[in-house]
Amino acid sequence: MSTPSSSLLTVLDLVPFGQTGPEHRFFALRLSRPDWPDWNRWRPGQFVMVRPLSFGLEIPWARPFGICHMTARHLICFFQVHGRGTQRMAKLVPGDEVRVWGPLGNGFAMEEDTPTLLLAGGMGIVPFVGYVNRHPQPWNLTMLFGHREPLGCYPVDSINERIPVDTLREPESGDLDDFLFSLQERIRDNAEQHGLVLACGPRPFLLTVQQLAARFGARAQLSLENRMACGVGACLGCVTRTTAAWPVAATRETPVQVCTQGPVFWANQVEL
Ligand SMILES: Cc1cc2nc3c(=O)[nH]c(=O)nc-3n(C[C@H](O)[C@H](O)[C@H](O)COP(=O)(O)OP(=O)(O)OC[C@H]3O[C@@H](n4cnc5c(N)ncnc54)[C@H](O)[C@@H]3O)c2cc1C
Ligand code: FES
Repeated sequence: MSTPSSSLLTVLDLVPFGQTGPEHRFFALRLSRPDWPDWNRWRPGQFVMVRPLSFGLEIPWARPFGICHMTARHLICFFQVHGRGTQRMAKLVPGDEVRVWGPLGNGFAMEEDTPTLLLAGGMGIVPFVGYVNRHPQPWNLTMLFGHREPLGCYPVDSINERIPVDTLREPESGDLDDFLFSLQERIRDNAEQHGLVLACGPRPFLLTVQQLAARFGARAQLSLENRMACGVGACLGCVTRTTAAWPVAATRETPVQVCTQGPVFWANQVEL
């Protein structure tokens, strides 16, 4: 795993996606590329802690965001406006400066020859942009994307350029039957092929994937989005409990930090 570093980066642009009301709520934030020594060893599923200088003294903590993509020219994050920090980030303009720590966490498993099912719920699509882009044999990837807001709010096009994406929009929370049926079918098929299932999205979605993976005996990894403050293992703000299947005896069935031990976990090794 790469050693996390910190850099002061410059905003290159902030591109709004889709529109769901009077103001934009979805943005691609393109920053200058960090000068971290081993920046090109980042893994899809890893994340960065982002703190614009404009947070000033009012917002002391950085915010965690998945690495959407990183090249020799730039680092791209994709975010949805949620609370105070992301509202402030939606006002960034080219030339603004942002402190970024990363790459943090472990990232998803990548097995070139294994049929791999990508399951994304809402903003859980973000790490799969980089995953699909970096996978050496994308014909082994399939993807199911469930979302509430219009498709144009999410970075689907760059994924669609490399693999077909099945999308299902469930505008109301009670409308989940179609999505659950598709999830069940896909996970069962993947288990029969001895494949790999990777999931990122809201907690109830991850819980469903975890239960289905257990039922069908699928190998599955989940990316958890626990609330974070420091992002580097110093505050214990992000812990999750491990199960008896956790490989490290000393921390088996005890809480571990999502920011340093995750955010990606094997589905049978954590309690949600
Ligand atoms: C590993 C990881 C990757 C993430 N990737 C993305 C992404 O790519 N795009 C995206 O839009 N969002 C992502 N999130 C969620 C994003 O971090 C939160 O939406 C954001 O921190 C909210 O900040 P806020 O100031 O607007 O909200 P507030 O509610 O005002 O935040 C208050 C505090 O709670 C924390 N917090 C609030 N919601 C979350 C949350 N869902 N997850 C973690 N911490 C939270 C904040 O970091 C902050 O410390 C990710 C979270 C994690 C843990
Ligand atoms: S966010 Fe501080 S320990 Fe994980």
